[in-house]
Order: sequence, then C-alpha cells, then structure tokens
Amino acid sequence: MNLVLMGLPGAGKGTQAERIVQKYHIPHISTGDMFRQAIKDETKLGLQAKSFMDKGELVPDEITIGIVRDRLSKDDCSSGFLLDGFPRTVPQAESLEVILSELDKRINYCINIDVDANVLMERLTGRRICKSCGATYHLVFNPPKEENICDKCGGELYQRADDNAETVENRLAVNIKQSQPLLDFYANKGYLKTINGLQDIDKVFADIDELLSKL
Ligand code: AP5
Ligand code: ZN
Repeated sequence: MNLVLMGLPGAGKGTQAERIVQKYHIPHISTGDMFRQAIKDETKLGLQAKSFMDKGELVPDEITIGIVRDRLSKDDCSSGFLLDGFPRTVPQAESLEVILSELDKRINYCINIDVDANVLMERLTGRRICKSCGATYHLVFNPPKEENICDKCGGELYQRADDNAETVENRLAVNIKQSQPLLDFYANKGYLKTINGLQDIDKVFADIDELLSKL
C-alpha cells in the first residue's frame, strides 16, 4: 500500500503514522524526521535545512524532492510506503507523480487529517517527543504516565526546536497557504480521503484503519 498522509502542522500525522506503520509494516517516510536527523548528524543537508526549519519556512522544493526520490528508490519501499509531510507544495506533488511513474508505482490514497487551525497552537506547544524512540505525547491530550518519561521505552521527553509559539505561528501561516491547492490536486486525481482529525487519537486511527482495511 502506497500512502500519503497530509494535514497542517499538529493535525496528527506523526501520531497516526506511528500506528499505521506498526499495523501495516510499511516504511514511514517523514521529510521532517529526515531533516531533523540530518541536523543532528551535522550533514550538508542538515545545514541547508536548519535555517528554514528554525523560521518555520519550507525547505526549498529541489532539496526536499531529491531526498524523497532517493528514499523511495530503496528496496524497503518495494511493497509500500507511508509518506508523512510530503508533498507539501503542488510542484512537490507533481514531482512525486513523476518519481512514482519511473518506479512503476502509484498512490492508493492521500489521507488528509482535517482539523480547525485554531486547535493547532495548543497541540504543538504542548507536544513532547521521546529522545530514544521518537514516540509523541501531549502534556494534556496524551500525557505520559510518568512526567517527562516515555511509557514505551523509559526515554526522556523533549520539546521540538520549532514548537515555540512564534515559529508555530509562521509554520501554520506557511502551510495553510499551500494546503488548498494541494488538496485540489489530489481531489482531481481521485486519491483524496478526508478524515476528521478533531476526534480523539484512537477514533482518528479507527477511521484511517477502516479505509486501509479495504485495500
Ligand atoms: P514536520 O516534521 O513534517 O512538521 P509539521 O508538518 O509541522 O507537522 P508536525 O510534525 O508538527 O505535526 P503532526 O501532524 O505530525 O502532529 P503530531 O502527530 O506530532 O516538518 C517540520 C519542518 O520541516 C517544516 O516546518 C519544514 O521546514 C520542513 N519540511 C518538512 N517536510 C517538508 C516538505 N515536504 N517541504 C518543505 N519543507 C519541509 O501531533 C501534534 C500534537 O498533538 C502531539 O502532541 C499529539 O500528541 C497531539 N495530537 C495528535 N492527534 C491528536 C488528537 N486527535 N487529539 C488531540 N491531540 C492530538
Ligand atoms: Zn520512547
């Protein structure tokens, strides 16, 4: 199954991706995670991406498309993949169509997690992530059992560098601007499926799972 997961920052892409890949055993390809890893490793890609991410801007299309092209060509994508946070612009979506046709693949669904933008500031500023396993929590909506400690692996939780109020505001503005043309692109292709992301986390997953179980 070849999937694209879309939604504004904080819509719940990462949270649902964790559950989807656990159940369906497909690789989780998050461009945000790839950039954060490159920053941590201090690679050239990391240096290029950091200045954009710190401001809440998008990393330029040519850089982003290049890393996705390389990743989708790897063997573990041969029986499926879950793209999270890519594409985010129409040129990225158009390039993805070309990349997939070269690889003789097509998207089954583009799942849009739909939320009102006004809930996202609270979701993002309250998010905490496990340093060791990457699991995502929320101080109010999905708190760990023990403060600052991951339920799954005992790792320490941290706050993402771009989850401060000022950067979140810009991330939301930048992504809201890109979102409608992208939704129109996938609606026209017939891939778009919209899920109500304002429900609780388990219910959002149940709706996605119902969709995927038909594939
Ligand atoms: P990226 O890492 O992709 O971040 P994002 O799109 O801003 O999305 P988030 O990861 O912040 O949110 P999410 O939807 O995954 O929410 P989550 O599940 O964690 O990108 C970061 C940066 O990298 C970009 O700003 C850009 O600079 C660059 N970049 C990445 N891809 C790019 C691209 N394609 N092109 C150009 N640049 C790119 O949930 C959020 C919180 O809410 C959590 O605390 C969670 O517990 C909670 N929550 C989740 N679901 C619910 C629910 N149903 N109810 C209540 N709380 C919930
Ligand atoms: Zn953990």
